[in-house]
Amino acid sequence: MSRFYPDSKVEIQGLSARFYDKLMNFASFGAYSSFIRKAVRLMNISPDDTILDFGAGTGRNALLMNRYLTGKGEVLGLEISQEMITQFEKKTKKYQRINVVNQRIDQPFSLEKKYDKVFISFVFHGFPFEVQKNIIENAYNALKDNGRFIMLDFNEFVMDETPLYFRIPFKTVECKYAFEYVERDWKQILAESGFGNFSENLFFKNHIRLLSSEKEVK
Ligand SMILES: C[S@@+](CC[C@H](N)C(=O)[O-])C[C@H]1O[C@@H](n2cnc3c(N)ncnc32)[C@H](O)[C@@H]1O
Repeated sequence: MSRFYPDSKVEIQGLSARFYDKLMNFASFGAYSSFIRKAVRLMNISPDDTILDFGAGTGRNALLMNRYLTGKGEVLGLEISQEMITQFEKKTKKYQRINVVNQRIDQPFSLEKKYDKVFISFVFHGFPFEVQKNIIENAYNALKDNGRFIMLDFNEFVMDETPLYFRIPFKTVECKYAFEYVERDWKQILAESGFGNFSENLFFKNHIRLLSSEKEVK
């Protein structure tokens, strides 16, 4: 349960955070590792990219991004769970260009510089709509002009029309905000928030989407 949004499940503390990567591998019957590697490859990371990872988790994604950062690139994770931050620091301690800070992504914040990419992976669906709009605004403000906001999360679908093999586990595991999230038109919402030039990749029978959009200069 989230400290800030009691109906949300995306703030992960304690043992669930400590064993988060193992739990994901187990729950996906081992498929998660190759999936997340592929998704990160499709982010089209350049060697000098500076990347913000919103709700960075254990640092697993940051390490995968690091493979492409052969130049001056760097990753900064923003995370609120102390146990996740501990895992992140442990996992990435060899790499000076990967860091994490204790920072909420759902409230305005300012950083010393602007970034080439903002990545958010399996975090966004777990907030109320008004908060999701704040997160989009935070991503916009954190990006350089023409930087990219990259969301890895559930694809959109109509709950009553989706097959039972997906609908039942989704309804069992996810929170009410996720039910609302999947039925919204996110490209439209992002376009209204200053993003365009969309590209997307779909996974797991189109249930998961990597949606990338560019910050358009207002
Ligand atoms: C489902 S996990 C995903 C972790 C990671 N992005 C991944 O793909 O493995 C959601 C993460 O978002 C973090 N989180 C939740 N609410 C947050 C907030 N308001 N600000 C920053 N991080 C948050 C959680 O603590 C957790 O680490």
